[in-house]
Amino acid sequence: MKIAICYRSQHHGNTAKVVEAMAGGREDVELIDVAGQAAFDPARYDVIGFASGIYFGKFHQSVIDFAQRHFPAGGKTFFVFTGGSPSAKNSDAIRAALADRNPQVLGQFFCKGYDTFGPFKLVGGIAKGRPSEADLRSAREFLDGLVV
Ligand SMILES: Cc1cc2nc3c(=O)[nH]c(=O)nc-3n(C[C@H](O)[C@H](O)[C@H](O)COP(=O)(O)O)c2cc1C
Repeated sequence: MKIAICYRSQHHGNTAKVVEAMAGGREDVELIDVAGQAAFDPARYDVIGFASGIYFGKFHQSVIDFAQRHFPAGGKTFFVFTGGSPSAKNSDAIRAALADRNPQVLGQFFCKGYDTFGPFKLVGGIAKGRPSEADLRSAREFLDGLVV
């Protein structure tokens, strides 16, 4: 069993912290930063998850593009994201982008992530201190509990 988590964490590294907590000490989980990715072979993985900060209500476009380029028909996936004020619907766009592959979606995990975008910068940002240690523990529990 091999799990890839393809991610982009551009704003504050919040999502990177979450996926690192998920992968820590697990040899079957590989983290793939889509920003620096030249080659990717989906056939090497049993599950391909996608992770991102939320930008204007959806995953970073580079993650959506990467998913569209590489995700195999009928593949297993899951979604992970952080946002200043995240909601379950923030994965709708990437789900829609994969719909023609009929993916098996195993679940999603999201939590708050420190956000200094636009006017929030003036007040020192929102969701300070997030992801917290508790968020990172929950993230790890999510991945460990995935039934694949
Ligand atoms: C340009 C921009 C747009 C954003 N839009 C949203 C949004 O629509 N909803 C939200 O909850 N957070 C939004 N955020 C906050 C980020 O999603 C949040 O800080 C996230 O944790 C960033 O993850 P990262 O550090 O892994 O990139 C936005 C941040 C930026 C910079």
